[in-house]
Amino acid sequence: MQNKPLPDMPPSMQMDEDQFGRWAALLEERTGIHLSERRRSFLISSLNIRMRELGLDDYEAYFQYLTTGTRGAVEWEILVDRLTVHETRFYRDDQALSVVRRHAREWLEQHAGERERFELWSVGCATGEEAYSLAILLDDLFTRSGSQAYLGITATDVSTASLSAGRKGLYHRNRIKNLPEALQSHYFESVDEQHVQVIPALQQRVCFMRQNLLELEQARMGQMDIIFCQNVLIYFPRERRLQILDYLVEHLKPGGLLVLGAGEIIDWQNPHVYSESFQGVLAYRRVAQEFGA
Ligand SMILES: C[S@@+](CC[C@H](N)C(=O)[O-])C[C@H]1O[C@@H](n2cnc3c(N)ncnc32)[C@H](O)[C@@H]1O
Repeated sequence: MQNKPLPDMPPSMQMDEDQFGRWAALLEERTGIHLSERRRSFLISSLNIRMRELGLDDYEAYFQYLTTGTRGAVEWEILVDRLTVHETRFYRDDQALSVVRRHAREWLEQHAGERERFELWSVGCATGEEAYSLAILLDDLFTRSGSQAYLGITATDVSTASLSAGRKGLYHRNRIKNLPEALQSHYFESVDEQHVQVIPALQQRVCFMRQNLLELEQARMGQMDIIFCQNVLIYFPRERRLQILDYLVEHLKPGGLLVLGAGEIIDWQNPHVYSESFQGVLAYRRVAQEFGA
């Protein structure tokens, strides 16, 4: 059954129900992201742009191309980057950053003088702004406190293109204007009139890795003091969100904190964590001592 042409789309770009269902199912199977009917035109235009680049003019031919062999696997990396939303910015959520700061201060008090490791995981880090914001906040805090602790940030995403942008650490000047000036000049070097570069000392603190949230049971991730997961769960159906959260808890150290975006989940319960939400930030702390452990 052919749909009525959408007003902003030529008839050659139309996609029938079966085709839409097939593409949406492929995306859901491989990334967990549920593509609602409202996003049909986004799917169609993303596919058409990519098909034009490849010289293909038929959805079926592109589907075959994408789902066959090594060439298809490489192509999938490109397409998934186009189909996922990478909107992000430095210091995006002040309240959540305050929660991180408070938790890190508490940790520093408890581990004063120790050479312990403090590990944070930025889940769905997109092009790195979130991970570097957290690295800046923590590096600044740890340096001021004179701590000898090792500070490490792991930043993961499903999109390899986003990860390589994060690794580069090169941003337009406009992107860092949310940061206090002292932090801008301390943590970024000027490249040219338009761009700045994250300083190597901060880059070394952040390790960018590919990790699909659908494959968390195989994640080779260590135990974290903070897991920061914002604006990612919203793209998954509820059942999948609950599953992801349960896996994330397994990677929290006792007493560690899981920080989510406001309203990203309701009625989630896990026996290993308790709610520590405040000031509009959804956060859960892993119990410090598990009975019977
Ligand atoms: C809107 S961005 C959020 C960026 C950042 N967390 C923030 O709040 O600014 C969502 C990110 O989730 C990533 N993502 C989507 N599905 C994923 C999956 N199955 N596994 C890992 N990352 C995924 C996307 O590639 C995208 O970079």
